[in-house]
Amino acid sequence: MNLILLGPPGAGKGTQAKRLEQRHGIAQISTGDMLRAEVKAGTEIGQRAKAVMESGQLVSDELIIAMLESRIQKPDAARGFILDGFPRTVPQADALDLMLDRAGTRIDAVIELKVDDIALVDRIAGRFTCASCGAGYHDDFQKPRAEGVCDVCGGHEFTRRSDDRRETVAARLEAYHTQTAPILPHYSKTGRLVSLDGMADVDSVSREIEAVLARVPNRAVTIN
Ligand code: AP5
Repeated sequence: MNLILLGPPGAGKGTQAKRLEQRHGIAQISTGDMLRAEVKAGTEIGQRAKAVMESGQLVSDELIIAMLESRIQKPDAARGFILDGFPRTVPQADALDLMLDRAGTRIDAVIELKVDDIALVDRIAGRFTCASCGAGYHDDFQKPRAEGVCDVCGGHEFTRRSDDRRETVAARLEAYHTQTAPILPHYSKTGRLVSLDGMADVDSVSREIEAVLARVPNRAVTIN
């Protein structure tokens, strides 16, 4: 089963994609995580993307489409994938259709998480992740069970993203409303778009997503 999680920065795409990956054994493909790995490794792609990401703008379609196309051809995506942060523009959505046509596959469901802009800023400003395993937390909404210790791997070091400053978040939200929201009609006209209330708590959103997936015809997934 192939899914797209859509929504503004901080809507909970990464949080829910990780849960889906664990539960259904399908790969989370986050273009943001891929770009951050390139920045960390100091590659040419990373050098091109770094300043763009830190300003809250979108990286070029050309670079992102090439990166995504090679990623979905990797063996772990063969059982299905969850696109988290892609597509983000109309050209990216069109390119995805072509890629999937060529690969003889399709998107089974597109899930939009709707969250108010004010709540998004609070979510992003409070976000941090485990430096060892990448598990995500929040200062108020999702604290580690023991303070300073990662629930998943027991790590003690945590990091915050350089684009999570309040002033950058405003630019990221604007990019979402002007460049990403226009792709919603692309998916609603094929009947594959389902919009969910992303303001609900994390477990409630997960339950709503599972209810959507249960209605996907011929879904080829294993529930772990
Ligand atoms: P990317 O990494 O994709 O960031 P984003 O879309 O801005 O999304 P986030 O990761 O910030 O939020 P999320 O929806 O995953 O929320 P999360 O689950 O973490 O992109 C970063 C940059 O890379 C872009 O700005 C752009 O420059 C570039 N880029 C990436 N893809 C691109 C593309 N396709 N084209 C061009 N450029 C691209 O949750 C946020 C916080 O809220 C967490 O602390 C979490 O614990 C908490 N939370 C989650 N759900 C809930 C809930 N239901 N209730 C309360 N708190 C919650």
